[in-house]
Amino acid sequence: MANRVLGEANLRFPDVAGVLADSNYSIYFNRKTMADIGITLDTTPAEINLDEFESMPHLVATNWAIAEMAQYICEQAATEGRRVHLLDLCSGSGSTLAAATAAIHGSDRELSLQSVTGIDVTTPLYEQLAKDFPSRAGDKLTSLGIGTEQLVTEGDINFQPGQLQLLNTDVVGAIKELDDKAIGSGDVVIVTANYGLHRIPLIQKRQIFTKLASIPNVVVLIGDLRQNCSEINRCHFNLANNGPLNTGNIYLGRTMGKLGFEQRRILGRARDGFDPSYVQDNLRENLKKKLPDDGFVLAATNGDSDFAQRYLGFI
Ligand SMILES: C[S@@+](CC[C@H](N)C(=O)[O-])C[C@H]1O[C@@H](n2cnc3c(N)ncnc32)[C@H](O)[C@@H]1O
Repeated sequence: MANRVLGEANLRFPDVAGVLADSNYSIYFNRKTMADIGITLDTTPAEINLDEFESMPHLVATNWAIAEMAQYICEQAATEGRRVHLLDLCSGSGSTLAAATAAIHGSDRELSLQSVTGIDVTTPLYEQLAKDFPSRAGDKLTSLGIGTEQLVTEGDINFQPGQLQLLNTDVVGAIKELDDKAIGSGDVVIVTANYGLHRIPLIQKRQIFTKLASIPNVVVLIGDLRQNCSEINRCHFNLANNGPLNTGNIYLGRTMGKLGFEQRRILGRARDGFDPSYVQDNLRENLKKKLPDDGFVLAATNGDSDFAQRYLGFI
């Protein structure tokens, strides 16, 4: 009942839901439970031993899987002379951003990102992210062409060159308002979302992906839960005081399909045995072991089938 009320509040009054989520998430999501940006930056895919990450090893695993795929996409874009923007939804404590930028930087190729954007509704995590991300990531980000002096924390998402934009706001409103003028017609936009979308009602996810579908050459990389009924969520995250409803993602694929996204489900119980070929062995084994009951990794693009072939070619 309380979950339903919170879910409705999320739809009707996103600002109220944001405040609720802010106060409630911060109880659960802190450095003890979340794989914070430091952990990610101090690790590499080859070094990951998920047993060391007691609270949320699945987040660490999918963050690195997403990171490796982002690296592949950047390499493909570099081959084709295209610029890449990275947009991370539901950034939390920044682990997805950290993993993706570190993997891109770690490529043997000289890769650069045109802009980096992270969005999260919660204040404590956002503050931690805004404080830690530039200093901990320092040289790695600088060599990506994203300097701390270009850290922007206000305004609408605008993909300005050389900019790291961290927005402490509701992702749905931010995407609806985003200004895509700075995205060139040949640019590639990598949208990452690790374990954040299951919080967002389908109707709002449709708004997010409708907007994203209107931008050319978007590649979406998602790690998340399907029905959100995994053991970990039954125990900890379906509690009424945990902010907006845990809606899961069961109709997300269908919704994205209707909006023109070509998809590849990479890993998930329903398709066991269908492994990401790009993700290196150690990580693939880790993913298999630690992905929750109904966890999945999905890659999708709104480009034409030739673009999909090239940019989802890691599968
Ligand atoms: C489980 S955390 C994942 C964080 C990060 N992606 C990672 O893998 O470490 C989910 C995050 O989604 C954020 N979130 C959920 N709904 C959101 C919304 N509507 N707008 C912005 N952030 C949201 C929460 O605040 C939380 O930090």
